[in-house]
Amino acid sequence: MIVIQSPDEWKEIRKTISDSGFVPTMGNLHAGHASLLTRAKKENAVSILSIFINPTQFNDKKDYERYPKTLANDLHIAEQCGVDYVFVPNKEDMYPDKAVYQIAENDISLLLEGKHRPGHFSGVLTIVMKLFSLIQPTRAYFGEKDYQQLQLVKGLVTAFFLDIEIIACPTVRQDNGLALSSRNTLLNAAELTLAAQLSNFLLSGLDEASIRTKLGDLGFEVEYIEKWQQRLLAAVKIGNIRLIDNIALTGESSCSCV
Ligand code: PAJ
Repeated sequence: MIVIQSPDEWKEIRKTISDSGFVPTMGNLHAGHASLLTRAKKENAVSILSIFINPTQFNDKKDYERYPKTLANDLHIAEQCGVDYVFVPNKEDMYPDKAVYQIAENDISLLLEGKHRPGHFSGVLTIVMKLFSLIQPTRAYFGEKDYQQLQLVKGLVTAFFLDIEIIACPTVRQDNGLALSSRNTLLNAAELTLAAQLSNFLLSGLDEASIRTKLGDLGFEVEYIEKWQQRLLAAVKIGNIRLIDNIALTGESSCSCV
């Protein structure tokens, strides 16, 4: 496994690669990320992981500052998944323009997450576009855990005629239903048990208003619970930690448990 920091160094290596699968992440890797990496490894000649905590997608400075940084462990997981290249750029290298160029989407990015995190998806789409331009993968793997992000990335590829196949991967969960997330590590044991109730209520068949009330009674601060594109999506806070999740309403299972 080769770890690369500089875009210029990567551009040289890229010339030697024709078929590749790419998994962009912000690090603090868990079994959810590993499922994407394993699939990228299996379906492509070369697999590439990027780790970059993208400042422009955090609308809350504290959330950015406390985002877990676990590079040594991440590299260990990447190695176990058989990753060929890990791209770990720094802020200055990814934003030579000092973030004055940005991708704006003016439709679905304004709903759900976008409504509650102004500017978030512009930051996501901008960094994904930059990473796609540099990596130029054949396929890129995204989790259904971030369902709205997945749809926006698919739209980006269509809008800018990118020759990249976007592969959607199911949400990996703990046995109690809790969707794996880097932010889970910021919760204590009691909060983690409580957090598992979110997916249980999404799957309960209750209507959105009832789920909102029940989660509120348990101590969650509910930002939204909404149906969209045949899914039920939610964002909640436990203390100051924000969690998102979603489930398919079509009957087909979107769960992959660890
Ligand atoms: P990050 O939160 O690190 O997630 C990287 C990828 O892993 C995303 O596609 C996400 O949907 C997927 N993922 C996270 N948890 C998962 C789970 N439990 N099961 C399956 N897949 C899961 O999403 C981002 O980073 C950033 O916004 C990024 C796209 C890298 C741009 O900065």
